[in-house]
Order: sequence, then structure tokens, then C-alpha cells
Amino acid sequence: MPLSFQHLTSTKQLSREDMDAILKVSLEMEKVRDAGGSDLLGDKVLASLFYEPSTRTRLSFESVMHRLGGSVVTAEGIQFSSMYKGETIQDTISMASQYADIIVMRHPEQGSADKAVETATVPFINAGDGPGQHPTQGILDIVTIYKERGTLDGINMTIVGDLKYGRTLHSMSFLLGLYSDVTFTLVSPDELKMPKKVTSYFDERGIKYTETDKLEDGLEGDVIYMTRIQQERFADKSQYEKLKDSYILEAKHVKDKDITVMHPLPRVNEISTDVDALPNAAYFRQANNGVIARMALLAMMLGKA
Ligand code: CP
Repeated sequence: MPLSFQHLTSTKQLSREDMDAILKVSLEMEKVRDAGGSDLLGDKVLASLFYEPSTRTRLSFESVMHRLGGSVVTAEGIQFSSMYKGETIQDTISMASQYADIIVMRHPEQGSADKAVETATVPFINAGDGPGQHPTQGILDIVTIYKERGTLDGINMTIVGDLKYGRTLHSMSFLLGLYSDVTFTLVSPDELKMPKKVTSYFDERGIKYTETDKLEDGLEGDVIYMTRIQQERFADKSQYEKLKDSYILEAKHVKDKDITVMHPLPRVNEISTDVDALPNAAYFRQANNGVIARMALLAMMLGKA
């Protein structure tokens, strides 16, 4: 199925048709994965470039290539790449384009993905650019909401925590906003409110949202999306210490309720482990959906699905 983009730097690029097609192929890929994989990408090489820490994104992309018969070349940590010697992002990506058929890059600098696509001659995927975007997390979040709730239209979404720096929730919000009658409750301390780039998007599309600093105001929706306070983005560490435990979701908040609990992970303290065993705790299933969503995306961006 053709997509409307060659490179994926931001979920703002996706149309509703793109997202619907990726969702459909993700559900097909789940069957392929469960049947033991395939050789669909047998002639393809992925360059997996991670210049900022990752567990889920990196391992799931690399796992996808193995499950679809492809190969992976990898670089991790700026100190072990020629960026350490002063090579630009543009030159690095120009080189990687010659060694691979598709490139995935995580980098601490917001806007690094835009620099990468200046010179990418093969499809490029942003796997997180500082506090900017993390589009494949947004996509797997949409797949998860659909699988957990059976629909995307009409979803009442609560997002809690670090709305300022949380790139995953920025990416997810732009995608969920493509569906009808969605509403958002945004729960954060005043210092970590949702940035204008997202609230103006809601305003432009007539999407209803409320802002609050109380967790209790967000416990009545369909989905609650908890997020980590992003320690690594704070210049002033005392500010982080003040805010780090602003919200802790416990089993008593969501037990016996029809509310799906999501989190992009990693978590620190914001979801108590007593939530993990509840049937509506979806965050480990959400991470698992990263495999099928990325299977779909790689296959589609390489013209194989
Ligand atoms: N959700 C997510 O991006 O996890 P990692 O940082 O472990 O890749």
C-alpha cells in the first residue's frame, strides 16, 4: 500500500489514509510474526543508528529485520561514531544511505531528523529527536488503542506527566487527532504543560481539550497515557527533583474501571507495580505492538507491502 511520504520525521506528515493503511498492515503483520516470520525483506539492510539510549525502539526495529529475513548494520553512541570527530548529521546519513536500504536514527538534538533527510537517498525514519518527535512510537500507540478499545473514533484520552518534553505523546496526539470526536484531558504541573505546537494543532482541528494539574480529573476517560518526567531534558536538576514524582498511578485509581492504562516506557515511579497485573494495564502489550507496527512500516516504506 503506498504511503504519502518517503521519509518519516514527524507524525504530522501522516494522513488519515496513511494511518489506516499502517494499522491494517500491522494487523496482517501480527499474523506473519505469530506464524514465525517471513523472508519479505530478505534482500534489505537496515542501518540502525542510535546516538541516545534506547531499549524498545532499537531492539524492536532490529528484531523486525530479523523476523522479515533482512539484515542490520548498527552504530551506537556519538563517541563511537565519526560524529565524535566532527562529522555532520548530513554527511553521516549520506554515508549510511550507501550501506543500507533504509535508515533509523535516534539523536538527542531536536531537528536532527530534518537535517538527516537533507541528504538521505534511502527512506529515513526518525526514532526520536530529543524532545521533538518519536513517530513510530505514536504509530504503535494508535495500533494499541485500536487493539485495546476496538475503535479510534470517539476516544477520550488522558495524558499525564511531562507533556512539555514527552516526544512520544506529541507524536501520538497528532495521530489520534486524525480521528473523529476525540477529546484530550492534559494533566501536568504548570512547568510541564503541553507545548503550543500541539495545542494549536488541536485548536486548528476543533479538537476539545482541557488542562489540569490534578490526576483525579483524568481518571474517567477511555485511555490514560502516563509518561515519565524526562530527567535528561532538564538543565536545572533541582527543578527535576521538585517535579519527578508529581503523579503516581496506583491500582486503586484504575482497578475495576473500563480505562486502558498506557505508557511508552521506560517508567520510573509514575506507575506503581501494583497496576501491572490488572487486565487494563496495557503498557507491556503496547511495547509488544512495536514489533508489528514497525514490521508494517518497514515493509511499506520499502515498497514490499
Ligand atoms: N518507548 C521508547 O522509545 O523506549 P526506548 O527509549 O527504550 O526505545
